[in-house]
Amino acid sequence: MTAHEHVRFDAGEMTVIIACEAGAPPRFIYWGARISSSTTADMIRDLSIRQGAHGNEDDNIHPSLSLEPGLGFMGPSGISAHRDGKDWGSRFTVDQVEKSAHAVTIYASDPRTKIDMEYRIGCNPDTGLLSFTTQLTNRGDTPLSIDAMATICAPLPQHMGDIIGFTGRWGYEFQRQRLSRFSGAYLRENKRGRSSHDSFPGIILCADNAREQSGEAYGMHLAWAGNHRIRVDSISDGRCFASMGALFFPGEIKIAPGAAYESPPILAGYTASGLSALSQQFHSYVRDDILRPAVKQRPRPVHYNSWEAVYFNHDTAQLMAMADKAAAIGVERFVLDDGWFGSRRNDSLGLGDWTVSAEVYPDGLKPLIDHVTGLGMEMGIWFEPEMANPNSDIVRAHPEWVLGIEGIDQISFRKQVALDIARPEVSQYLFDHIDAILKEYDIGYIKWDMNRDISHPGGAGGYARSHAHVQALYALMARIRAAHPALEIESCASGGGRCDMGILAHTDRIWASDTNDAIDRQAVQRGASYFLPLNIIGAHVGPRKCHVTGRTLSIEMRTATAIMGHMGAEMNLLTEPQSDIAVLKKGIALYKRHRDLLHSGDHVRLDTADYLNAFGVVAGDKSEALFSVAYLKSHVATLPPPLQFAGLDAGAVYHLRLIWPHGWKAAVTPSIAERLNLADGTAFTGEALMKAGLQLPLSLPETVLLFHLARQD
Ligand code: GLA
Repeated sequence: MTAHEHVRFDAGEMTVIIACEAGAPPRFIYWGARISSSTTADMIRDLSIRQGAHGNEDDNIHPSLSLEPGLGFMGPSGISAHRDGKDWGSRFTVDQVEKSAHAVTIYASDPRTKIDMEYRIGCNPDTGLLSFTTQLTNRGDTPLSIDAMATICAPLPQHMGDIIGFTGRWGYEFQRQRLSRFSGAYLRENKRGRSSHDSFPGIILCADNAREQSGEAYGMHLAWAGNHRIRVDSISDGRCFASMGALFFPGEIKIAPGAAYESPPILAGYTASGLSALSQQFHSYVRDDILRPAVKQRPRPVHYNSWEAVYFNHDTAQLMAMADKAAAIGVERFVLDDGWFGSRRNDSLGLGDWTVSAEVYPDGLKPLIDHVTGLGMEMGIWFEPEMANPNSDIVRAHPEWVLGIEGIDQISFRKQVALDIARPEVSQYLFDHIDAILKEYDIGYIKWDMNRDISHPGGAGGYARSHAHVQALYALMARIRAAHPALEIESCASGGGRCDMGILAHTDRIWASDTNDAIDRQAVQRGASYFLPLNIIGAHVGPRKCHVTGRTLSIEMRTATAIMGHMGAEMNLLTEPQSDIAVLKKGIALYKRHRDLLHSGDHVRLDTADYLNAFGVVAGDKSEALFSVAYLKSHVATLPPPLQFAGLDAGAVYHLRLIWPHGWKAAVTPSIAERLNLADGTAFTGEALMKAGLQLPLSLPETVLLFHLARQD
């Protein structure tokens, strides 16, 4: 097949054009606002031509998809590969292009360094979200070491002046950091062996005036549950390049002759309509292209999780009593957390010994599971397969299964060590034990945890195994799913330490954070929503006094915060105030009424002062919406500003109701809620709500109001 001159996709709000002239490096010549068909790719290519400048190369170098060293480009490099120090200077030129309606594969190679590159690019025809995967094949007859490889390097327009990156920590993940681009490199390197609490693998570049409903923005996400490197380079001539790729330890990726390395995918979106519209492209991708249809179609069941209720103190009678309470308030899935197996009576013992504890469950798990399923709930159970306590039967029997650098042990981290699951016998052991539990018991759900960073990821032969660990993890999950197709898996890593679209290809829900503090959760869930949709974000109503922050928050606020996700409860239902449990029951009913909307509609975040957090979900046909407004802290203004809704049908009339908390009273009455009779509802046009906005009632801090809007047809 002959080479095309270029490939072009026009979809959603964007057009992308990639030049692929035979014999030249493939390169972006345009990625941005959609252009009409009367503008040809040739015109755009002509406009992309640059010229020489004093003190620079005579003819300006065009950056390629990999920014490989053989280009002579003085900006960032997208690849660093060699054979014992030779064959490092590749320049990949196009051999062939295969294009279908919504995808293209560009085959490029360098015969001198004997490396083939395959760039696979997909374009979602509805949203315009792009996907990139790059495969490198070693055509030489000696091994090729890859020290670094970005999936792709994307040149972005120079007016993308702001970077929004993500930082955070255990109990406070997904914290956004917006900064102005600067000359030099914005660099995030994550070596934790999981996608991490502190460096979610997503980045947004936007115009400095971009807001939630306006402005240009580009978003990129690396779908990879392991180590990564994120770079934004602003080079001295003003140009900007964004790149992402898996991060390797020395010698970790050595490609045998004839073998290939496939990069993790990058998902990349463009919008001219603000940050919420950008997020919606990623949400559609997760919902439509990653989640399995059976999971997507099933309403997300209300969870109960035993962790913050009983920790390691499992007692069947108490858990059964808890299950009675849970079923009575509307819970649909009961998840038994850590502590059911081996000698695991605290976090220093028994991790890795995946047989039911005869001490705690003398009759096995059947009595409890029968009780749970008899109440109409599904049973779920906790595993942490990749880990073990040194004080466990499995590590005593197989000390060689533990990862470590020769002569240096893993540092102490939650009293546990990471296993080398890339060893086939370790994966087999894990499969056998998980499979046995799933075969013996009526269990439909696994909470799959991963509670430590992998500090010394050395495996057999002394080689680094972090990358292999993630590949082995994916394979193990795929094998378990294949054996148990109806099983759902939640990805947890001390909360949100492994939330990315790589792990989501093998799981069905993420546990966004160990904090159930509703104030902090508002920030965590808002941050997560930049890339992840609400239907996969686990959100639980925790105890009155939060175990992580010590803060006491009302049941109304805790419940409202959990409703706006995949809802669950995680508290001792026997000892928490029964008045709280009664409110929770109402909240669960409300969640069930609205979960179809919440989990399928368009997520719209609103720009507000920082003492508020406001966002909503609008049905695809704009017939209905649910908005959440959190009053986070005190403010100097006597009254909060009018709330300008977004995403509604401007011409439609909506019936606007305040639906949560029930019977809520503002700080000063009669409030605007009473004046406008918002409890029963009042009609406003979408235009009025979006342009004039609703004067928010005066509220005490630490309150969440939920507004429902129904279009009057
Ligand atoms: C992690 C999880 C918690 C809980 C504990 C159990 O911290 O994030 O939800 O499952 O492990 O040890």
